[in-house]
Amino acid sequence: MKIGTPLSPSATRVMLLGAGELGKEVIIALQRLGVEVVAVDRYPGAPGHQVAHRAQVINMTDAAALRALVERERPHLIVPEIEAIATEELLRIEDAGLAQVIPTARAAWLTMNREGIRRLAAEELGLPTSPYRFADSLPELQAAIDAGIGYPCLVKPVMSSSGKGQSRIDNPAEVAAAWDYAMSGGRVGGERVIVEGFIDFDYEITQLTVRAKNAVGTTETHFCAPIGHVQVRGDYVESWQPQPMSDTALREARRIAQAVTDNLGGLGIFGVELFVKGGRVWFSEVSPRPHDTGLVTLASQQLSEFELHARAILGLPVDVTLRRPAASAVIYGGVDATGIVFDGVAEALQVPESDLRLFGKPESFARRRMGVALAGADTVEEARQRAQECARRVQPKIA
Ligand SMILES: Nc1ncnc2c1ncn2[C@@H]1O[C@H](COP(=O)(O)OP(=O)(O)OP(=O)(O)O)[C@@H](O)[C@H]1O
Ligand SMILES: [Mg+2]
Repeated sequence: MKIGTPLSPSATRVMLLGAGELGKEVIIALQRLGVEVVAVDRYPGAPGHQVAHRAQVINMTDAAALRALVERERPHLIVPEIEAIATEELLRIEDAGLAQVIPTARAAWLTMNREGIRRLAAEELGLPTSPYRFADSLPELQAAIDAGIGYPCLVKPVMSSSGKGQSRIDNPAEVAAAWDYAMSGGRVGGERVIVEGFIDFDYEITQLTVRAKNAVGTTETHFCAPIGHVQVRGDYVESWQPQPMSDTALREARRIAQAVTDNLGGLGIFGVELFVKGGRVWFSEVSPRPHDTGLVTLASQQLSEFELHARAILGLPVDVTLRRPAASAVIYGGVDATGIVFDGVAEALQVPESDLRLFGKPESFARRRMGVALAGADTVEEARQRAQECARRVQPKIA
């Protein structure tokens, strides 16, 4: 793919479907390479809207609206940043040769639903996963647990992300509440749930995996150093790179990541989520796009996961070198308000080797991710302390 001049007939046009904090960084990376970018989100003033050539607001689960926008904007590449998209329409758009979907329309379609990707990983590819079943009603959920999933287990709506509608069940008395919570937390109400046996892992990682063209035009797979992270209620609060791992566990993690990404195909970065206990590794899920825990790569790698994605999708070479141990810590809104201000930014940036991303979201919620603190250090432990201290000093306030 040749790169032309933005806003001219030779432009290389990319459409981001989803323009949150991860999309914003991808857009900045694309802008730096001279790409014309259209950012799409469901509300005006989204982070990525603020740095794109054009900002569009549509309901991306509306197939007709999505199709109409693609026909109007004529992007060469469509880059999904979120899961809640009319992915069947992406399959049709790709089939019609209207645009290339990153990494592929099938990957976007399979991963938007936990059932698609779990059945692929466990049943087709034979990869180790937690034990699981699907249920469409409370009696079916109870039957699935009784038939072998057991306690403790986790219930998740099949179409949800960031821990929404997800809960842990420790005994039979908690099943009904978990069902009700799942019904309220899915992307579309009243959908199926997956119930998974609880994996008592030592730690969990994101294995960022990049599919990119090499010098002779063949697709090659590159592995970033493993990212460790902490999740609270299914949402990431802290990540670091590199996560120390045994050779056995790292080899197994990469075998799994390679198998999944080979199958999904296309070009770009993938966040493969894995659980590790000793030398054992379980596949959890995969994002065919930059991963939130990978925000740490803005401080740790030669090229961030966003730059890697931009390069890979344009058919350019990548470099996954780790430069420095680093960590990220999430800054939550803390308040429900629009147009908030951030106190303590100067104090936060007094922390050695620290940096900040404030996403510019027009509206804050107590548990909405509004920014992230980053820090490098000689060791991961020190980087984590620095990132946490930097995040702690930033105080979102009602203006
Ligand atoms: N079977 C399991 N056993 C133990 N812990 C689990 C299991 N499934 C999920 N978890 C924990 O819950 C977290 C969130 O789960 P999962 O990634 O499936 O949800 P999600 O809503 O897709 O989250 P996100 O969108 O943030 O990735 C995991 O990172 C892990 O910490
Ligand atoms: Mg996850």
